[in-house]
Amino acid sequence: MHQNLFKSKKNNMKVTVVGAGAVGATCADNIARRELCSELVLLDIKEGISEGKALDLFQTSSLLGFDTKISGSTNDYSKTADSDVVVITSGIPRKPGMTREELIGINAGIVKGVTENILKYSPNAIFIIVSNPMDTMTYLALKASGLPKNRVIGMGGLLDSARFKCYLSLATGASTNDLHAVVIGGHGDTTMIPLTRMATVNGLPISNRLSEEALKKVAADTMVGGATLTGLLGTSAWYAPGAAVAALVEAIVRDEKKLMPCCVMLEGEYGQNDICLGVPVIIGKNGWEEIVDYKLNEEEQAAFSKSAEAVRSMNSVLSTMSM
Ligand code: 2OP
Repeated sequence: MHQNLFKSKKNNMKVTVVGAGAVGATCADNIARRELCSELVLLDIKEGISEGKALDLFQTSSLLGFDTKISGSTNDYSKTADSDVVVITSGIPRKPGMTREELIGINAGIVKGVTENILKYSPNAIFIIVSNPMDTMTYLALKASGLPKNRVIGMGGLLDSARFKCYLSLATGASTNDLHAVVIGGHGDTTMIPLTRMATVNGLPISNRLSEEALKKVAADTMVGGATLTGLLGTSAWYAPGAAVAALVEAIVRDEKKLMPCCVMLEGEYGQNDICLGVPVIIGKNGWEEIVDYKLNEEEQAAFSKSAEAVRSMNSVLSTMSM
């Protein structure tokens, strides 16, 4: 890592995005536009797709005014060597009517293989996990890699919190930028917990602006935020997931120490152990650097424990799989 360069726009960072589907390519697009690294590699298993998308993206550089070199690789992990940050988006997305959890059978083997291959060439990288079911895939990547816990981060909570702000903005008319709102728990339609009690607009409780009933609807819309898009698009979303990843990469490479809700390994925090689940964390050059205690009330803590139970039962499926 190059600390003296953190605050300048350009740095000597290398970022790899594995999976050149819609989410991976949108991540790459956002990362390049913001010059979060000097070198960006897109890797996919499908012949030519990452080379094609990388070349197409690099051809935007003179038009958009960024100076990040982008290249693609069909499954040649040596091209990803010495990455500072690696984003894993590999696997299949859900189709309308599917839950994220139904993807475990296919995606677990893929995420494990990708993690092992990346590690061979980039032992010092920070991993960002996007593949679904995201909480279980984060747990799997952490266990399969044997990396220190701070270097494996699941992206879901940041995306879910952005969706929470979107629905709060639609309901109140407030700017999304004036809202502080956090979703914790699992990245699943029934496991995520929008913390409505703590949501604020310009520092004032959101309950000043919305009735309890309206707030309940916002929370419910947030929880099925991804499923709503899957229904509309026929596949899962990519703009907000790609933007959430880029914000996370930015917080790491610029050492921002930003509070972001992310999926991380819990060791006693929020009453949980040996599970990766969404909580507010501080993100900086070392990955997630600190878990912030939001002092949940009884009802919120009960929801968090229930969410953990569901994710834990999904994690237990991993040990029954041959990978
Ligand atoms: C979503 O919620 C892809 O899980 C991601 O859109």
